[in-house]
Amino acid sequence: MTQPRADHDGPPEIRVRAPGKVNLGLRVGPREPDGYHPLVTVFQAVSVYEDVVATASDDMTLTVSGPQAHLVPTDGTNLALRAAQALAEYAGIDAGVHLHIEKSVPVAGGMAGGSADAAAALLACDALWGAGLSREQLHELAASLGSDVPFGLVGHTAVGSGRGDVLTPALSRGEYHWVFAVRDSGLSTARVYAEFDAMTGAGAASLGPDSDLELLQALRAGDALALGRALRNDLQPAALELAPELAETLATADDVGALGVIVSGSGPTVAALARSRTHAQAIATALTAAGVADTALTAVGPVPGARLVASPG
Ligand code: C5P
Repeated sequence: MTQPRADHDGPPEIRVRAPGKVNLGLRVGPREPDGYHPLVTVFQAVSVYEDVVATASDDMTLTVSGPQAHLVPTDGTNLALRAAQALAEYAGIDAGVHLHIEKSVPVAGGMAGGSADAAAALLACDALWGAGLSREQLHELAASLGSDVPFGLVGHTAVGSGRGDVLTPALSRGEYHWVFAVRDSGLSTARVYAEFDAMTGAGAASLGPDSDLELLQALRAGDALALGRALRNDLQPAALELAPELAETLATADDVGALGVIVSGSGPTVAALARSRTHAQAIATALTAAGVADTALTAVGPVPGARLVASPG
């Protein structure tokens, strides 16, 4: 078992790093009686990370740092705190924790930053408290917290079904270069799904078994050009309806030669696939210069899911 790391001049701490994600394909079926939509999605974890540092404490408290920290709730509604509480209850542990989130994934951006926090908090608390939960138990807890939390644990490339929480690993060769065009104002996932319902009525496509064939073949072959052509997001029209300015972001990335460009998950982050690291930097510069992104992040994928890392210093 991993022991909490004793810092030079502070209490023992555990640091866990978890990635954000992009949905390479996101196909959404009609809303079900439980209010959720069945979906089939191909997730790729990308190198935009959340670090969650857990320190022993009498209470359960949370602090956040990073450029968008002011947008993150630090009360009991925060998904990382809920993850800590859920794990304590599940494992019958009577202990507290202070969680600090170093946030890099855009807030309410469609890249599952909050889900990454929750996945990281589960691993960090499990290690801090010596709970020793299995991967299966952590996955079960993750799915109870949110549809994207299980993928935050596993990372790499995976096909998600059900609500996106039933995961099958997918083969992927090579490294893909991304630019993420970030907007300061986020979009609520629930609102985007509601807009999807309003736009599709009962006419949302039912989900066939092999519609992601082209996408999965491109990943297996390591073919970025084919991947760019196969990107697909059924939530994109709804996100564009709620945030029409995203159309310009998509068009600008296309103009500067992105291999493919798509709204990430429920948006408003736009993901552009580049040919290389240098090309990604050029696209990022073009997007900010054109004023169609507040920030542009470059990243690679796929990367691993939540994992313990050594604290710096
Ligand atoms: O699971 P999570 O809490 O991340 O979902 C946020 C909201 O997004 C849900 O309350 C629901 O309105 C919507 N959603 C959905 N179908 C899914 C996933 C999420 O309708 N498969």
